[in-house]
Amino acid sequence: MENQSLEIQADNFFTEDERAAVYKSIFTRRDVRGQFKPDPVPDDVLARVLTAAHHAPSVGFMQPWNFLLIQSKEAKQKIHDLFVKANAEAAAMFGGEKRDIYTKLKLEGILSSPINLCITCDRTRSGPVVIGRTHDLDMDLYSSVCAAQNLWLAARAEGLGVGWVSIFNKQDLKQALKLPEHVTPIAYLCIGYVDYFFAKPELEAGGWRERLNLDELISLDYWGNDEALPAGLLEAIAQAQNS
Ligand SMILES: Cc1cc2nc3c(=O)[nH]c(=O)nc-3n(C[C@H](O)[C@H](O)[C@H](O)COP(=O)(O)O)c2cc1C
Repeated sequence: MENQSLEIQADNFFTEDERAAVYKSIFTRRDVRGQFKPDPVPDDVLARVLTAAHHAPSVGFMQPWNFLLIQSKEAKQKIHDLFVKANAEAAAMFGGEKRDIYTKLKLEGILSSPINLCITCDRTRSGPVVIGRTHDLDMDLYSSVCAAQNLWLAARAEGLGVGWVSIFNKQDLKQALKLPEHVTPIAYLCIGYVDYFFAKPELEAGGWRERLNLDELISLDYWGNDEALPAGLLEAIAQAQNS
């Protein structure tokens, strides 16, 4: 095989418009809970976003994910019941005013979205010793998270909303989905076309929490180093955030 077929051009591979499209998907992606339309998602669109997920990076090329599509009303209802139980427990963990706000938040779209998808992590895939996972066994979990993010961004480009629901008792969720012991649920996602996307994270718009300043999250060489970042980088960060 000639080298040519194994390599893709590195520089100037994306046109300016294509590069802008990648950032557009990143910056306009939202967690969607409430604006789902009942319209079915065509198979070719679903296939594309699943393929995007399947092309995520993974430790040792382990590809530890599986994709469980939850489409029947009964199956969704079972999962929704689990959410309701866990959400009541969650509300009790917040005190005072935060609890009042919490109970008013909509934190899932399980029944209103046409597709629910659980991305899992098979902790045994490709055997006990995996390149890159030799010293931190959690790397497989992070790989499945990468699959979720790939799907989320591809879905945004397809005009699909995605909402991540994590308020479950993990064992209950595993049981409901009949996951074997060695398989962990990573991302329970609600997917469908939406009436609109919010411009900002709903938790930000609702006053729950603000986006942190990026420049305060970057440090040089070691954690907690208060040495100032180079002025050029600071300026560029400010510009990138305003563009
Ligand atoms: C791991 C993970 C778990 C999440 N779990 C929930 C959840 O249970 N319910 C919910 O409404 N949003 C959930 N979210 C969405 C976040 O609240 C959301 O990403 C964040 O507020 C920023 O908003 P944005 O995604 O619209 O930018 C989750 C997101 C991640 C990455």
